[in-house]
Amino acid sequence: MSQQLTTEQLLHAAEKFGTPLYVYHIEKITEQYQQLTQAFSNSDVKIFYACKALTNINILKHFHSLGSNIDCSSINEVKLALHAGFPSNRILYTSNGIAFNEIEEAQQLGIHINIDSLSNLEKFGKKFGHSYPVGIRLRPNILAGGNLKISTGHDKSKFGIPTDQINQVISLIAKYDLHIQGLHIHTGSEIKDADVFVKGIEVLFDLIPHFTELKFIDLGGGFKVPYKTGDDATDIVLLAQKVKEAFDAHPVAKDLQIWFEPGKYLVSECGYFITQVNVIKETSATTFVGINSGFNHLIRPMFYDAYHRIKNISNSYGIEKKYSVVGNICETDTFAWERKLNEVREEDYLVFYNAGAYGFEMSSNFNSRFKPAEVMFAKDDFFLIRRRDEFSDLLNHQIEV
Ligand code: LLP
Repeated sequence: MSQQLTTEQLLHAAEKFGTPLYVYHIEKITEQYQQLTQAFSNSDVKIFYACKALTNINILKHFHSLGSNIDCSSINEVKLALHAGFPSNRILYTSNGIAFNEIEEAQQLGIHINIDSLSNLEKFGKKFGHSYPVGIRLRPNILAGGNLKISTGHDKSKFGIPTDQINQVISLIAKYDLHIQGLHIHTGSEIKDADVFVKGIEVLFDLIPHFTELKFIDLGGGFKVPYKTGDDATDIVLLAQKVKEAFDAHPVAKDLQIWFEPGKYLVSECGYFITQVNVIKETSATTFVGINSGFNHLIRPMFYDAYHRIKNISNSYGIEKKYSVVGNICETDTFAWERKLNEVREEDYLVFYNAGAYGFEMSSNFNSRFKPAEVMFAKDDFFLIRRRDEFSDLLNHQIEV
């Protein structure tokens, strides 16, 4: 049974903690993690939670307790992972465009590192030679993903070392006796089609003969979850089957570990963002519902044209009408245009679904507004896991001269 919080539970959280409020359902994370590990249980697969999606320390600790590994995109995420209790051998740092001193720091911490540029690979070779095994992030030149902004593997993408530069990689390996233990790609986010992963595998398999010390192939993250009712998700069971077939059929790859770094798949659906209606404004174009939030709290609709399901939990049986849900920021911050909602009144609570991944994590204090509070629902109870900002937080790091 899929884990979901009920309208009553969400209303209770809104009353108890105020809004705007992020709520995370911990058992839903467990369910997603278990679905993934079960689907891949016949292969030598390691799951690394891509924690850029949601880094609240309680969420990280939960992944630790599940036995998950963790993928980080900055040295600070690495430090948060250590703080949450992950041992260094369960932490991966897949960097892009970073200063070499972060890679040095990661090396000192003893974690797995994927390097994404020839420049940093050369510096790494010069400094560490064969002594520290490392992975390389390659750019497979495959265009896939929910939209261009979240597509990372195509031939104009900044991410990874383009596979057409493989000869330069080989020269660096020879020059510095580099110990390459893994090949990595991350093609994009919201990839529904399992065949895109198979295509990526084929690109990497062509390169395997150049590497004699491989331990893993890392296929990144990017599994799609349903955002709309009736939306398709990546068929994880089919994906697991196709990946297994491909690896089993390859003379070298059959003995390699397969790594994945999902973010959205693990935490998108656990999250609910509860807001409250400030004003209703009737115009000739549309009826605006102005809520106590904006792209400072949930930027995905404005940044990626992302669709988030919205429900009026204060009036679940009200007659349906069309509304345009907008924020209170001095920018055009439209969450939804002409969306059917149960009749909306001022002070009603509107909840956004799929708010766990890249929701709070991409929030800001724009317009000097407070970041929302975060709450976790676990063992039938709500726990505050980040207090709402208060005025002193806005001045906290400023220096008055
Ligand atoms: N691994 C690497 C190297 C990545 O760059 C990413 C995401 C992931 C794993 C996890 O991807 P996921 O499974 O979450 O799709 N903020 C955007 C998504 C950008 C993802 C960036 N990299 C959004 O809200 O749609």
